[in-house]
Amino acid sequence: MNKKRGSFSGRIGFVLAAAGSAVGLGNLWRFPYLAARYGGGTFLVIYLILVVTFGYSLMTAEITLGRRTRLSAVGAYGKVDRRFQFVGLLTCLVPIIIVPYYCVLGGWILKYLGVFVTSGAQTAAADTYFSTFIASPIQPYILTVVYLTITAVIVSFGVKRGVEAASRFMMPLLVVLSIAISIYSMTRPGAWEGVKYYLTPHFSDVSLNTLLGALGQMFFSMSLAMGIMITYGSYMMDDTDIEKSVSQIECFDTGIAFLAGLMIIPSVFAFSGGDEAALNAGPGLMFVTMPKVFASMNFGTVIGIAFFVLVFFAALTSSISLYETVVSIFCDKFHITRIQSCIVTYVICLVLGVFSALGYGTLSGIAPLGLNFLDFFDFVSNSILMPVVALLTCLCLGWFAGLDVVADEVKKTSTFRREKMFRVMIRWIAPIFLIAILISSVLSTLGIISL
Ligand code: PHE
Repeated sequence: MNKKRGSFSGRIGFVLAAAGSAVGLGNLWRFPYLAARYGGGTFLVIYLILVVTFGYSLMTAEITLGRRTRLSAVGAYGKVDRRFQFVGLLTCLVPIIIVPYYCVLGGWILKYLGVFVTSGAQTAAADTYFSTFIASPIQPYILTVVYLTITAVIVSFGVKRGVEAASRFMMPLLVVLSIAISIYSMTRPGAWEGVKYYLTPHFSDVSLNTLLGALGQMFFSMSLAMGIMITYGSYMMDDTDIEKSVSQIECFDTGIAFLAGLMIIPSVFAFSGGDEAALNAGPGLMFVTMPKVFASMNFGTVIGIAFFVLVFFAALTSSISLYETVVSIFCDKFHITRIQSCIVTYVICLVLGVFSALGYGTLSGIAPLGLNFLDFFDFVSNSILMPVVALLTCLCLGWFAGLDVVADEVKKTSTFRREKMFRVMIRWIAPIFLIAILISSVLSTLGIISL
């Protein structure tokens, strides 16, 4: 192993670091609003099937690619097959698009933390509180910049170990608090309808959007198709069991998303009636619903503060990992120093962040593809770029470099029990599924077919 490259201390170290990156707003904020929007149980079941088949296979492939080549995405694809070098670059685009809008969400969390501390749960639970806030002319951007600066400072001063250490005990606390809140919200009058909605699939309402939504969510939540797991794999020691690590990260990540759904969706039914509009709240769902839950509790303000602090930490570990990725891409690609690269990343986020932060207010008149900017960037990265990167990864490994590149590496430390599934997935099922879904989504976006 390359001596200069650092490495994780054993499997637990690796799993914790990868899970810290994986568990974030994708689980707590994104998963519940997509599940609410796309049919509850229907979305949940499709998501779970995707995670254990495709998600598992792709994560195994990416981690292995990193460990085998000891390179990050920029070099790893080219090393296994020169023709696929460009995929590394394409992969880099994804975190560059995501970081700015992730910081906008970080700003929303700061806003709620602030209001809970200064005025309490009742104020935050008012019906128009969220919509007034995101439509306000400049405040969402200022908070975006505050959150971005916190992330940037942590990355540039190399103090992320402190945050990671803190989040090691914040995470379990978040799980405990989420379980308590889920039980509370499930037992509110009217909430049971929500539990049923969340857990019962209705396959009649599976649509292209449900599939595309679940697919994009899987990439986002498991930190796949953007080079992160390749980089993490490149730091993994040779005797760490890849198969076991992947299973653990997958369980942890999915468990937290499931819990977040259980906390938020029944509350939508209990506190907002569960009608079409409430379920379709989109990115605002967590911010609209959770304050209502807290406002109805004894000590709701204190519990709300605890909740948003914990969400803040979960978000921070993910945004640090995203920011770090962008920084290292620029360092490697343009041969600049780390500090220069931190500054370039910061400026890019400042510029791109304006759009997502003000897309609901000042810039709401501009709607690319009919979406506001935050949804637009989210769509471009999760529903277009990531499926394309995933498809190219499958083609590279399944048809050109050969799946033995992965299988041999995994078998160094385990029997690779899911090898058959892995091979069929990467070579056949995933590419066919991805091509079908990409083509139909392009056609339906262009209005050629309606689905
Ligand atoms: N997986 C993270 C989440 O669920 C987002 C993320 C993606 C973080 C990629 C780092 C890298 O929020």
